[in-house]
Amino acid sequence: MRSDRRTSLPAAGSKWPAPREPSKTRLVPRNADFYLCGPAPFMADLSAGLAGFGASKNCIHTETFGAGRSLTPAVAATVPKPPHPPTGAAGLGPLVSFARSGLSVHWGPPFQSLLELAEACEVPVRWACRTGVCHNCETGLIAGAAVYRPDPIDPPADGNLLICCSKPQGDIVVDL
Ligand code: FES
Repeated sequence: MRSDRRTSLPAAGSKWPAPREPSKTRLVPRNADFYLCGPAPFMADLSAGLAGFGASKNCIHTETFGAGRSLTPAVAATVPKPPHPPTGAAGLGPLVSFARSGLSVHWGPPFQSLLELAEACEVPVRWACRTGVCHNCETGLIAGAAVYRPDPIDPPADGNLLICCSKPQGDIVVDL
């Protein structure tokens, strides 16, 4: 069911409003399929509201717009900063584009992996083993190709790459 109702966005840092009683105002059945896309906090709040409304989890479909949350075990949480080019001299290597973060930077010799470059740019990343075993760093490969050093034990799914043990092989766009 489509709705042409518009609403203004809440101020940055404030909680997203839960959906109102859609069954009363728009005749939305509880067993409808709900498709949500937007920033992670928006979808978390709206999904919780829909679950409270009685929608089945199987009927709530989400797609994140923007960077996801980081997973960095054993690293103290800090206030995230906006992604930025790495400090120091710009690299001369292939162009690495972090699509969700809206940042493109050139690969350079200080980095041993795409994960290290992303971290230097404060692009949100997820990792655990950093050796190609756990797949926590598995990321969508939007364009381009990468080489593995070392080769992972299990390859990523088609269309993905493991950023902890890969380097760009020419210009590349990753879903970070
Ligand atoms: S962090 Fe474990 S496979 Fe990349």
